[in-house]
Amino acid sequence: MSKKAKMILEKDFKVSEIDNRIYGSFVEHLGRAVYGGIYEPGHPQADEYGFRQDVIEMVRELQVPLVRYPGGNFVSGYNWEDGVGPVEDRPRRLELAWRTTETNEIGTNEFMKWAKLVNAEVNMAVNLGTRGIDAARNLVEYCNHPGGSYYSDLRISHGVREPHKIKTWCLGNEMDGPWQIGHKTAAEYGRVAQEAAKVMKWVDPSIELVACGSSNRSMPTFADWEATVLDHTYDHVEFISLHQYYGNRDNDISNYLALSLEMDDFIKSVISIADYIKAKKRGKKNINLSFDEWNVWYHSREQDKLIEPWSVAPPQLEDIYNFEDALLVGSMLITLLKHADRVKIACLAQLVNVIAPIMTEENGPAWKQTIFYPYMHTSVYGRGVALNPIISCPKYDSKDFTDVPVLDSTAVYNEENEQLTIFAVNRDLQEGLHLECDIRNFDGYKVIEHIVLENDDLKQTNSAQSTPVAPHSNGNAELESGILIANLPKLSWNVIRLAKK
Ligand code: AHR
Repeated sequence: MSKKAKMILEKDFKVSEIDNRIYGSFVEHLGRAVYGGIYEPGHPQADEYGFRQDVIEMVRELQVPLVRYPGGNFVSGYNWEDGVGPVEDRPRRLELAWRTTETNEIGTNEFMKWAKLVNAEVNMAVNLGTRGIDAARNLVEYCNHPGGSYYSDLRISHGVREPHKIKTWCLGNEMDGPWQIGHKTAAEYGRVAQEAAKVMKWVDPSIELVACGSSNRSMPTFADWEATVLDHTYDHVEFISLHQYYGNRDNDISNYLALSLEMDDFIKSVISIADYIKAKKRGKKNINLSFDEWNVWYHSREQDKLIEPWSVAPPQLEDIYNFEDALLVGSMLITLLKHADRVKIACLAQLVNVIAPIMTEENGPAWKQTIFYPYMHTSVYGRGVALNPIISCPKYDSKDFTDVPVLDSTAVYNEENEQLTIFAVNRDLQEGLHLECDIRNFDGYKVIEHIVLENDDLKQTNSAQSTPVAPHSNGNAELESGILIANLPKLSWNVIRLAKK
């Protein structure tokens, strides 16, 4: 016996054109993300710059359009000048955010080179913790000014003639958090962010800026923080950030899989605050949302307490993800797509080794975590227009949520390629879901693939040796007179791809 769900998809029920930056990710100078992750000179797969080509291949598979860099908490103590110029002259620094030693072998120009190799743009963060408007405007000049000024000529003297033309910039990181180097009140941060934004845009008016929102929805200052910061920065920024990590600490799967509803509520709340400030200012522009850190993060918290302080690139935040984590990540991606009209940037935190879809072994292979797959599927097949499906399905209550739909789903229509893709999670613990989806509006479309990620063991993980959590294409979706019929197995991630042939 299966439960039943109904869905209607219409070309004109649009949420919005999707900004590809919604499939962004994040590389911080933290743990083995940079050193031992993207960069491992001496590795058999390293290229002439020391970048691991096996990692580059996997990042390309994910089609990551944007990578946030260099932090994270790291950026709030970072002197960008330490990471440019001859590598042998760069200082080793005590890195206070994560209590490690930063060698500065990789800095701005090396990272930009790597980003080019993976076809990604960079979302560059400036330090508004220990530094301020001067370092911020100088970095914009170093990166984006063509030449003929001190910092642009410095870049050229470092062998980089063409400006990097970095479009998206973060005004610091999690400045509301007491753990942050240079933590500020909302009013203190709002003023600094406003002035930094102003002069950064005086250097390069084409850039887009992200002001820091709250570090998560549970912060005591949440909502007031956003309102105060945007009151100061509304005229100068395009985005306000959101960060959120989840975990299944109580081993309560029904409640865990419902956490995307909380993410949805978080997004709606920040939209309301941004719109309140717009109204208050009689403004014309919308402030959009940059969900520039999101993921599951809880598996590695205890082991990280054992790390020897001041080591170089220790294994930090190395969560090994299981199958249930992949389901929640799938739902979080669906949630972002449901808000594609206002969430224009999102970054899966992070990309390699640190709470990441891609892991590496020192001197050994790179491998794919369970969460690699929903991220790859949405990034590769989720380009175009986010549609607003009408869904009816059974619901359940869990510890913290009521009326949780067993079917979490959305769809993306790519008019140019004449493709329609449905992303769906069946949250039901016991039963498959019999889905009937009315797509009569998509005349001439055929099912080309029904990808399923399923596993009998919610705690199943992948490793360098084996990949038991991997998708298959044996889903049974089929079309009958304009009605798509599919069985979504219990606890599964599904990608139903249709195209006009
Ligand atoms: O992504 C890991 C850390 O989480 C980031 O450095 C910080 O911004 C957040 O607290």
